[in-house]
Amino acid sequence: MTTRYRVEYALKTHRRDQLIEWIKGLLAVPFVLHSHPTAVFEPDGEPVDKQANIAQRRYAEIMRDVEEIINDHINHQKMGKPDRSKLKLLVPSVANFYTALALHDAFIWQDKRRHISHRRFVPPSFNDIRLVLNTAQAMSLVRGGPLELVTFDGDVTLYEDGMNLKPENPVIPKILQLMRRGSKIGIVTAAGYTEAERYYERLAGLLDAIQTSDLPLESKQNLMVMGGESNFCFMFDGDSPDMLRFVPREEWLLKEMLQWHESDIKELLDLAEASLNDTIRNFRMEALVVRKERAVGIIPKDGQKFCRETLEETVLIVQKILEISDVGQRLPFCAFNGGNDVFVDIGDKSWGVLACQRIFGGIDGSKTLHVGDQFLSANGANDFKARLACTTAWIANPQETCQLLDEIAELDEVHQRKTR
Ligand code: IMP
Ligand code: MG
Repeated sequence: MTTRYRVEYALKTHRRDQLIEWIKGLLAVPFVLHSHPTAVFEPDGEPVDKQANIAQRRYAEIMRDVEEIINDHINHQKMGKPDRSKLKLLVPSVANFYTALALHDAFIWQDKRRHISHRRFVPPSFNDIRLVLNTAQAMSLVRGGPLELVTFDGDVTLYEDGMNLKPENPVIPKILQLMRRGSKIGIVTAAGYTEAERYYERLAGLLDAIQTSDLPLESKQNLMVMGGESNFCFMFDGDSPDMLRFVPREEWLLKEMLQWHESDIKELLDLAEASLNDTIRNFRMEALVVRKERAVGIIPKDGQKFCRETLEETVLIVQKILEISDVGQRLPFCAFNGGNDVFVDIGDKSWGVLACQRIFGGIDGSKTLHVGDQFLSANGANDFKARLACTTAWIANPQETCQLLDEIAELDEVHQRKTR
């Protein structure tokens, strides 16, 4: 039983996205029926374009059907009965959707770029579907009216893991363009510092570019940083030396967050710290424990690299211990694998995004997009929780973030032309 549990759950389920796996399974059928691998060595076989057209039509039809199943789920959500939808039966882990998803059109769009229907040997993959879902989300947001707030994760989304946002980073002009079009920007990162200076060190490229840009003053103030997932709030401020002004918690905390008592925070972090220390001992990890005001984590001693399995094991242990504790029931927390470190933060990115929405005047989840890299599952991924607060896009590296922002700009232009 234990072995089965580990194989089925601990080692597999938390490393899969069930919605994507389900769509992948649906697309495997037309792939098997309509791709013709033998055409590679049988030159008289069906021409590649003809085969691709048929495959594209079949794939797109399936995406249209999935789109409708999601619409049905959204109708159930509106009636307060999401558990009764057909989608919930097919993909039990699916949560609520903030908008419909233009999956048919998004498939055609991505097929033009990735030539999915032309492939004879490689079926539609996890990454193909992840990118189709991102495009579908972008299309629905753009068509549904102005995208009011875009929140970004930091590491892996805006810059490489553990690096800084430098002036030459190509994402900078794209974020400025979003701001020019009226979107507010939040950087919702787990990196938790109490001083503006530390965020300036990491984000200087973007902050300096905003300061020297020709954006009107009030637009410049449309950028904020939410650090430690949902703990430290800073607003852009061109007059301060670090371009950021610390906003005291009294000014922005949501009413539910007022229930996060200091004694509970200490108790939860103490428990997490003890668990992390145990794991370091048991796995003979060359690690240091870092205790902060609102987080506790382990980082490698000089030059050490932890293997993925150890990092995931560490997260799963601490997460379980906290989940079954009394304090863990009272206080939201997020334990995650940061690539070469593990952190437990008080709160999570759903609270971080909700706070951004509130600070910018009450923006709805259906007008907000969170872009991040950590969506693999609830276990060990910190962007995952943002799904509770808004629509999301799942990117795999900073280059994909740039591509997504280009896509949004292109889709927006097409939309403006049509509605003019
Ligand atoms: P994110 O990808 O922007 O959410 O940043 C995650 C990374 O921030 C982690 O992998 C850590 O390396 C780093 N970090 C620094 N301080 C903290 C903290 O207080 N909590 C969580 N992560 C932190
Ligand atoms: Mg990240």
